[in-house]
Amino acid sequence: MAEITILTHIAELATPLGKAARRGKDMNEIRILHDAAVVIQDGIITDVGDTAGILSRARTSRAAIRDLSGHALVPGFVDSHTHFLFGGFRPEEFMLRLQGASYLEIHKSGGGIENTVRSTRAETAEQMLRDGKERLSDALSMGVTSMEGKSGYGLDKTTELTMLQVMRQLNQIQPVEVTPTYLGGHSIPAEYKGRADEYISFMITSMLPLIKEQKLAAFVDIFCEDGVFTAKQSETLLRAASSLGFGTKIHADEIMSTGGAELAARVPCTSADHLLMISEQGIRDLASSAAIATLLPCTAFCLAKPYAPARKLIDAGCAVSLASDYNPGSCYTNSIPLLFALAVIHMGMTLPETLTALTLNGAAAIGRADKIGSIEPGKQADLVVLKQPSYTFLVYNTAKNQVIEVIKKGKSVYKI
Ligand code: NIG
Ligand code: FE
Repeated sequence: MAEITILTHIAELATPLGKAARRGKDMNEIRILHDAAVVIQDGIITDVGDTAGILSRARTSRAAIRDLSGHALVPGFVDSHTHFLFGGFRPEEFMLRLQGASYLEIHKSGGGIENTVRSTRAETAEQMLRDGKERLSDALSMGVTSMEGKSGYGLDKTTELTMLQVMRQLNQIQPVEVTPTYLGGHSIPAEYKGRADEYISFMITSMLPLIKEQKLAAFVDIFCEDGVFTAKQSETLLRAASSLGFGTKIHADEIMSTGGAELAARVPCTSADHLLMISEQGIRDLASSAAIATLLPCTAFCLAKPYAPARKLIDAGCAVSLASDYNPGSCYTNSIPLLFALAVIHMGMTLPETLTALTLNGAAAIGRADKIGSIEPGKQADLVVLKQPSYTFLVYNTAKNQVIEVIKKGKSVYKI
C-alpha cells in the first residue's frame, strides 16, 4: 500500500518551479505560498497547494498528517561543486596566504593540490569512506540533500578509482545523494611533470573508457588555469569525455582569465565553474549557450579575491547556480549559511535568485533538474524545514543555520 504523508499549515513555502535551469530574470520568479500543504506519496510529491484545499481533496484517512505551522519549507539544497573526499589538511597554506602568498605560487611550488594528492594516496578506502560519511552528514544538517563530489586527489589510476568507488558506496549507506565527477584533470601529477599532453592522453585512453564501463562517474571536469591545464588541453579532454557520453564541467577563469568560459560555451559543458575572472566575451558566450555558470563565493571569500560577477551574468541572461567548492585548499568550508550571506550581501543576488541557484539550477548543473530542485508534483520529496516562519531568515539571521529538519525522498532523515 502507498505510503502517504501530508505536510500541512506550512507558514511559508518558497520554491522555484520547473524541470530545467532558470535563466536570467526568470531566476527571480519563485513560488511563495502561505499556510501551504504538500502531499507526498512513496517519496514523490503529488500535490502542493493551500492547506484547506489540499485537505479537502486528499485521501486523508490513510495519510500521516504533520503540522508544520510556524515553519518555512524550501527544496533540499543541491551543492553542485565539491571536493569533499580528501586526505589530510593544509592549514599551513592558509596561514601562508594570510601572510601574502598566492594560491598559484603555493601550487607551483609543489604544495596545494599536490600536497593533498600525497595524503589522499596514503589513505585507505575505509578511512575515506568514514570521513566522507561524516562530511555528508554535516552537509545534511545544513539542508544539503544532493551533492556533486569530485575525484582529483589521486590522479593515478588506483586512487582515482578508489575515490569514485567510495562515492558509490556512500550512496548506499547514507541519505545525501552523491553525483560523482572524474576530475583526473585537477593537476599535472608529479610523475607527469612537464608532460601534460601525455597525461591528457593517459586520461583519454586509460581512464575515461574504464570509468564509463564501470559507470563510476556522471561528469568529467578539468582545472583550466595558468600553470595547470591550457584551454587547448582542456578542450581535448572535455571533447573526448563528451563523445563517450559523460557530462562535462570545467574549473574556468578562477585565478586568471584563460578562455575557460568561452570554451565551456563552445563544447558546450554542463557547467562552467568559478568564473571570478571571466571576460566580457565569456559572459556573452555563456549567456547564449546551455552551460550553467556555477559560482563559488566561499572560495572567493577564503582566497580574499573579488567575487564572480553574478549580477552581470544574470542580467546577461545566464543560468547561475551556487555551490560550496568544499575542499582542503582554496575553500575549507561547506557552510550553506555563509554561502547565502555572501551571495545576497556581497554578490548582489536577490534572495529568490539565490534560492533558485542553490536548488533548481544546482540540480540542473548535475543533470537532475527533472527529479529534484523544486517543490512541485512529480519531483522527489527532498525538503528542508526551517526554524522560522519565513525563508527570508536564510539571510536575515546572517550565517546561522536555520535548518531544523531534512526530508529525503519523503522520509525525515535529520531532525533537531
Ligand atoms: O575549485 N581550483 C581547483 N580546485 C579547487 C581547489 C583544490 C585545492 O586547492 O585542493 C577549487 O578551488
Ligand atoms: Fe573546485
